[in-house]
Amino acid sequence: MPRAKNAQPKLVNIEINGIPLQVPEGELLVEAAKRIGEDIPIFCYHKYMKPVGMCRMCLVEVGYKQPDGSVRKMPKPQASCTLPCTEGLVAWTQSEQIIKDRRAVLEFLLINHPLDCPICDRGGECPLQNNTQFYGPPISRYIEIKRHLPKAFPLSKYVMLDLERCIQCGRCVRFTEEISGDAQLALLFRGAQTQPHTFQLTEFTSRFSGNVIEICPVGALTSRTYRFRARPWDIVTQKSICTMCSNGCNLYFDSRAGKVVRINARENPEVNETWTCDKGKFEQVEFLNAPNRLTQPMRRNGTAWEPISWAQAYELMLERFARARGAVGGLAGTRLSNEALYLFQKLMRAGFQSNHIDHRMTRYQGDLWAHAQSLLNKLPVANEYRDLEATHLIFVFGADLIDEQPMVFLRTRKAWRHYGVKVAVAYPVANAVEEFAETRLRYRAGSELALVKGLLYILLDKLPAETVAANLPDHEWLQALLQNCTPAWTQDHTGIAAEQLLAFADTIASVPSMLILTGEKVWNHPESEELVKHLMWLTRLTGNCHQESGGLNLLPLGANEQGASDMGVLPNRLPGYALVEDEAARERFTQAWGAPVPSTPGLTTDGILQACLTGEIQALYLAGANPVREHYDPTLAERALRACEFVVVQDSHMTESAEYADLLLPACTVAESEGTYTNWERRVQRFWRALEPPGESKPDWLIFAELWLRQVRQTPPFNPREVMCEIASLVPQYAECTYEALGDSGKRWG
Ligand code: SF4
Ligand code: SF4
Ligand code: FES
Repeated sequence: MPRAKNAQPKLVNIEINGIPLQVPEGELLVEAAKRIGEDIPIFCYHKYMKPVGMCRMCLVEVGYKQPDGSVRKMPKPQASCTLPCTEGLVAWTQSEQIIKDRRAVLEFLLINHPLDCPICDRGGECPLQNNTQFYGPPISRYIEIKRHLPKAFPLSKYVMLDLERCIQCGRCVRFTEEISGDAQLALLFRGAQTQPHTFQLTEFTSRFSGNVIEICPVGALTSRTYRFRARPWDIVTQKSICTMCSNGCNLYFDSRAGKVVRINARENPEVNETWTCDKGKFEQVEFLNAPNRLTQPMRRNGTAWEPISWAQAYELMLERFARARGAVGGLAGTRLSNEALYLFQKLMRAGFQSNHIDHRMTRYQGDLWAHAQSLLNKLPVANEYRDLEATHLIFVFGADLIDEQPMVFLRTRKAWRHYGVKVAVAYPVANAVEEFAETRLRYRAGSELALVKGLLYILLDKLPAETVAANLPDHEWLQALLQNCTPAWTQDHTGIAAEQLLAFADTIASVPSMLILTGEKVWNHPESEELVKHLMWLTRLTGNCHQESGGLNLLPLGANEQGASDMGVLPNRLPGYALVEDEAARERFTQAWGAPVPSTPGLTTDGILQACLTGEIQALYLAGANPVREHYDPTLAERALRACEFVVVQDSHMTESAEYADLLLPACTVAESEGTYTNWERRVQRFWRALEPPGESKPDWLIFAELWLRQVRQTPPFNPREVMCEIASLVPQYAECTYEALGDSGKRWG
């Protein structure tokens, strides 16, 4: 049963340690106790997994209020992690009996624990260490020989397992069963010999393997990349946001001696709950510490790079951009913050008088905002994470979800597992969603448009005439357009059996709401604009554009792709999506920026690259963009950069595109800067500076601000907070996105 969105839970009256309180009915006692600041010690319990009551660390004394006001105590202590709160529950968490029980549980767990804390990576942040410190026996009465098992050995590329330290809490095993769903770990053997491992002792290949390190309550599972690199007391922890995809996971960056040594999840119930994927947890650390960092401005001198000062770099760039007389273009990367993207387009538009700016590297470079407004009267992304649990059918279309949107994958799986949401997936090859999807449509690569046309054809016929008329009043032209797209035609074009397609159409017609998630195959389809329009018609025809928990979600791929569109890094739209031809909007920005904004829409990414080839663009600014790697046609990108007279590359690392640059500007990574990102659900979230910028590198926003000062001769903003205030004053969607309002967990617009 899908979860009712925004449902108000029934409250019950309970009492903990003599303190009366109201909590939602069914809330576990261990969670309810946190409401009065009572942290009941735990090992096997985890807030985001089903309770199993395995370790008995969370025992409490419990009773129930009787009609006469007395309390009837249960004869034995109860595990608070499996006890749901009901009316009249009374609990004691600090009684003499409980203190004794906790000590006994700990003494038992420590019998076989090696107590090698001084050389354990978990030492200093270990729940077993902490619980022993607070509740455990001061000495051990056990004098026999302890259990001996293989010491640390690699379980996977990232995870190390030390069997002797394991306390058999089962958290790691349950994670792979319940959350990641790959069920790669199991508890093998019995009794004191129980060991977590992969079934056939094979490599642990989960895409989410790093989470088991974080949830292991002892040092049995440790990180191979972080191992012995730091102790908890000599790292500095800073809050941040992941930049490896558009899911916007909340993270902590742990740094030591000027380097990020570890990334852990930061809890945000609305986004990543408390999980990360391995890309965000491990690959991001590799990226941040990659040796090819740019730390000094450099200009090309023949085949060599010549280090220059920032003043010389700015002078050279402005002189060459002036020489190009408006024949300038700019591409921004999606790892740039909102503040940087905003200043980039402001500099290009009002500073260099060019609307030739874009951030898109996929084939789809149409006016998505206009299409969504005119066809759906909605935004291109209709939903948020929590809608996944409230909808009735999730249709994953053209996306390898586990790879493109790992956290959306986890939340989709949760919706299926916990709330019985139906899942359908259409993708050309095997993919992870198929493992739990009710409908699996493996179509011929490139036939996405035919598949949607076929579905529309069947649904136009299958849905009641009054539903079709209500949802799509002008449906006759669509019927005429699709008159040949019969199930047989669709089978010929897609390879999907007509019966399978008809059965899926039945499913769509039978559910009250459907939430569509699309991916890379849509953005890079040769007829991507047509495909997007057909998906919008499908959403309308099925009535999902009016459903709160249904709708179309054209998921962005890059970390801050949503922010780049919001900030107006588009050739035809100003920040907040006003058209550049809109005189009133232009006037507003002209007034605010103190410099005119050109009124003709600029070229898209493809147009800019083509214009580099023909000489219509003579100076190109790549700010965090790497078209040679990211553009769907890398050969075009390569030829364009080679042909362009003057290419400026601003990036944190040496990139494939930087090889073609005439000037290199060293920029900061997310760890060395501060600002905000907007994830796929349009949630604007803050990140904070964790490290000093290396060498002479500068945050992107500062480079744009310093160029603005020199080009327009106006006072630039002094920090990202000031930039966000300017954004909030000019972009209606961001009106409430001040740093204070965003807080630690962000704010969703729209
Ligand atoms: S390895 Fe860690 S998480 Fe897994 S069962 Fe052992 S103690 Fe629990
Ligand atoms: S899902 Fe995306 S945002 Fe989250 S940790 Fe993985 S790469 Fe980062
Ligand atoms: S935490 Fe409750 S039994 Fe383990």
